[in-house]
Amino acid sequence: MLIRKAPDILPSQITSKSNYLNRRAFMQAGGALGAAAIAGPALGAMVPAGDRAKIENVAKSRFSTGERANSYEDITTYNNYYEFGTGKGDPVDNAEDFEARPWSITVDGEADITGTFDFDDFIKPFAVEERIYRMRCVEAWSMVIPWVGISLADVVKRFKPNSKAKYVAFETLEDKQRMPGQRSRVLDWPYREGLTIAEATHPLAILAIGLYGEVLPNQNGAPIRLVVPWKYGFKGIKGIVRMRFVETMPQTSWNMSAPHEYGFYANVNPNVDHPRWSQARERRIGAGLFADKIPTRMFNGYEDEVASLYTGLDLRKNF
Ligand code: MTE
Repeated sequence: MLIRKAPDILPSQITSKSNYLNRRAFMQAGGALGAAAIAGPALGAMVPAGDRAKIENVAKSRFSTGERANSYEDITTYNNYYEFGTGKGDPVDNAEDFEARPWSITVDGEADITGTFDFDDFIKPFAVEERIYRMRCVEAWSMVIPWVGISLADVVKRFKPNSKAKYVAFETLEDKQRMPGQRSRVLDWPYREGLTIAEATHPLAILAIGLYGEVLPNQNGAPIRLVVPWKYGFKGIKGIVRMRFVETMPQTSWNMSAPHEYGFYANVNPNVDHPRWSQARERRIGAGLFADKIPTRMFNGYEDEVASLYTGLDLRKNF
């Protein structure tokens, strides 16, 4: 699973005894499922291939769209990642030297299994799939992206959230040295996002670790980011270091920044406009300067799969 030689371990990466014991419980609890995953669609073994490391044994998924995917170039040069600047071209330029290894993810809150896990240990038990998904940004542009990821439902279940857990909150790394955009106060750092447990355990929700069969580029959220294709792109938090199971709706970055413009749910909805622009249509990146905008679909075209999550919820109020 080693992608490239890990630099020296930082003191912050050394696991405390209680975390170590929790981690052992996590690995033991994972034994049976882990074996099933290896026998099934295969665990992703990563092999270095020049600068861009390939992820091996990636299974296809019935959840992929047949739409033409955007080019690697489109997906990796037109980004939103404010930790590396607010311009679309800033992340590819400014994240080039970011080291996404070693990396650890802390799981805490209302769950039986908690602790701090090295990234490789965190993903090891899970089957790796390619998911070709539409991505609709709240700014009214879209792409089709062939992610490589693991099922968020499998991850959530592995940590055994207890009956108090109603939401999962996510946080990005906070490090002004490594993420120069955090020196600006454009957002209240760290970047935060969240889902209900029902959303997080929906089969379409994944944690992406790659794209186009290769390890996730820094500008797309290396080493691990959330992908929820029926929601606006800003829900897809990058560079995740913490997952916390909580009882009440967590604060989320864009909602904190402009609550009248960005809600917690952020489901793609062509019938509810952003206060400053229409959400009825979208510009497909890479379609060419003179291409017509295309109609935006309810839940980004995943209505059949996800509408039942929101039965009885007023989507105008809960935007
Ligand atoms: N995650 C973090 N940590 N910081 C960010 O600024 N931007 C969000 C989301 N995740 C963002 C983030 C927004 S607004 C979008 S549209 C998507 O990432 C863009 O993902 P992409 O650059 O891989 O297309």
